[in-house]
Amino acid sequence: MKVLERKPLSVWRTLNLDGFLVGVPHYPEHVDESYWDRDAERMATAGFNTVRMAEFAWHIMEPHEDHFDFSLFDKAIAGLAKHGIKTILCTPTATPPRWLTAKYPEVLRVDANGRQASHGSRQHCDTTSPVLRRHSQRITRAMAEHYRDNPHVIGWQTDNELNTTTSESYSPSALIEFQKFCRAKYGTIDALNFAWGGDFWATAYQTFDQIVFPQPMNPSFSSPGHVQDYHRFLAFATALFQHDQVEILRATNPAWFIFHNLGGLVDIDFRGQFGQDLDFIGFDIYPFLYDEMRRGGGHAITQAFHLDQCRAYSGNFIVPEQASGLGSQPGFSSSVPEPGEMRRMAMTSVSRGADGLMFFRWRPAHFGAEIYWNGIIDHDDVARRRYEEAKQFASDIRKIEDKLLGTTVRMDIAIAGADFDNQEAYKTYAIGLPSPMQDAAHLHRACYEAGIACGFIHPEDDLSRIKALYVPHWVMWKEEWSKAVEKFVADGGTLILSAMTGTRDDNNHIIRTQAPGKALAELSGVRVHEFGPVSAPGADGLFTGFREGGIGSHQPSPRPAATSASRKYAYTIGNRQLEAGHLYEKLETSADTEIIGRWSDRFLEGTPMLTRSRHGNGQVYYLGTYLTAPLAEVIRELLVSNDVAAPLVQDMPNGVEVSLREGGGRKLLFVLNTEHETKIVNLPAGTDLLTGKAISGATELAGYGVLVIEQPV
Ligand code: GAL
Repeated sequence: MKVLERKPLSVWRTLNLDGFLVGVPHYPEHVDESYWDRDAERMATAGFNTVRMAEFAWHIMEPHEDHFDFSLFDKAIAGLAKHGIKTILCTPTATPPRWLTAKYPEVLRVDANGRQASHGSRQHCDTTSPVLRRHSQRITRAMAEHYRDNPHVIGWQTDNELNTTTSESYSPSALIEFQKFCRAKYGTIDALNFAWGGDFWATAYQTFDQIVFPQPMNPSFSSPGHVQDYHRFLAFATALFQHDQVEILRATNPAWFIFHNLGGLVDIDFRGQFGQDLDFIGFDIYPFLYDEMRRGGGHAITQAFHLDQCRAYSGNFIVPEQASGLGSQPGFSSSVPEPGEMRRMAMTSVSRGADGLMFFRWRPAHFGAEIYWNGIIDHDDVARRRYEEAKQFASDIRKIEDKLLGTTVRMDIAIAGADFDNQEAYKTYAIGLPSPMQDAAHLHRACYEAGIACGFIHPEDDLSRIKALYVPHWVMWKEEWSKAVEKFVADGGTLILSAMTGTRDDNNHIIRTQAPGKALAELSGVRVHEFGPVSAPGADGLFTGFREGGIGSHQPSPRPAATSASRKYAYTIGNRQLEAGHLYEKLETSADTEIIGRWSDRFLEGTPMLTRSRHGNGQVYYLGTYLTAPLAEVIRELLVSNDVAAPLVQDMPNGVEVSLREGGGRKLLFVLNTEHETKIVNLPAGTDLLTGKAISGATELAGYGVLVIEQPV
């Protein structure tokens, strides 16, 4: 597999590999050698070309400090290579061995209650620790040098799902690193005190070494500026931890590709150094777990939602771990994909930007904290339906690979995403409102269900290929983005700004001018006169207590019983009256601003809630409230009726999803049945690349069936 030139981060970036990786994470250390050859043979028969290994095997590769033994993996790699299977190795730093944590206990994480992490699971060590960093560099260098000239090792994964168990540390060494970070960022203590608001509650410091962590509720709330910088620090430290490894790997063999497998994006700023260091993003997909974690109303749409967010960071990606069957650890369990569903979920990943995919995992473990986590073959070493589906997927990929690689995912309606500062700024002070991703989920769903190409994009990215950009109340709007979106609108784009956008600065201070700030007010023709939270539709009282992680954790936790007097307002758009959710803004409009929707009761009655102003060849909508499911549908219909966007497939039946990959003079329409019943779909003309059959008009799609239709360009 050749590694091609790496382009800058962009949602429109394709993978810089000249082939599609198909395979499995593999743990040869979990069975004796008598299994190995048969494993490799069956992988080759399935059509796999790659395995990923060694992410939890530090104790095997370095049984004692500075004594390395790579013989197990040498043999495993050679055995797989005999069957044509290449290896991706991982730095094993998610599980430092016991000799290390015993001799250097200062590398263990400390939680907010001062409890030091124990050895015996994983991610117990503190990535901010300089001592851990030294050991991470040592093991990375030893592995890299040992495998430098091994032709079967083609690339690397750094660590494993950094920050998914926890990202925080309150250890004494983390505090010193945090103080250093603050000194480098602010230079003077006065600058820091200004940023964090030191004159509020006497929180000012006299020196950098007086700085403390923003301890959650110890005893009360910390300043949003302080909290924001703590999370910026964690992201900085995570990037630095990875950077050490990347530097060593690149210097040792520049022909290797390097990625990280993300499980979420907690305290990782992928568009910053973390992502810039890598060749591409790896994103682990467990759709059934999202349901178990109550993250959002159906595993099919939630998978699409996660993939669409993930793509916004850096474009096409690989899926290093795609769920195969039952997923479980002692504290939770998922339900099981039905026959055909594992392949369908994998094809959904491809349809939304995966240019490589591995099923988790080759064989399930017989021991340890994941004995009920299924693999491709079963505990008794028999290959059953999941093996057959993986084999089918590999053969599907071979049929489409040449046409697929080099294409990107079409996006007509884009939602602003992939911004670390806005994700964090929300969490520092949510005023009981939904997060940007909770809000965005409504518009994403409305588009997904109608078959409209929708995804996420950062405002710094190339906006010229999208038709509309929705900004889901990004409080920390940057000046330079206004210029980019103004150009996008002048060139004919549609911008939809939602309430609260642009209301805080970089320090998390509320801006000192009237919202939404000068540039956005000029662009939208709107100024905010006043605002206030309202109940969610159907709820009594306000939502509170949001805990937002990274990608996908967008579920509010409602207060058990309403304690505040409920405030409900409605608005009217055209002939529809809807109940407002979460927030009202009372708007002042410029003379030439068109009023599309108005508040319809009490003191707000008759005032604008949805406006439009023309700008160059485009238009700017301002939405003085947050999305609800019905409002998102109204916005979608508005865009469709104004010819801003159109469904890829008309009148899609429920449970069918579509996505278009295009580029290089090709158009591949993916049509996927996410349910077990057969559906009839009315399709545009083209050829199904999986069967070679011509398709046009009403077409039967079997339960969990997939079509990849090449359309005329
Ligand atoms: C991922 C992780 C794997 C394995 C898998 C199933 O989050 O990277 O190591 O734990 O989940 O739990």
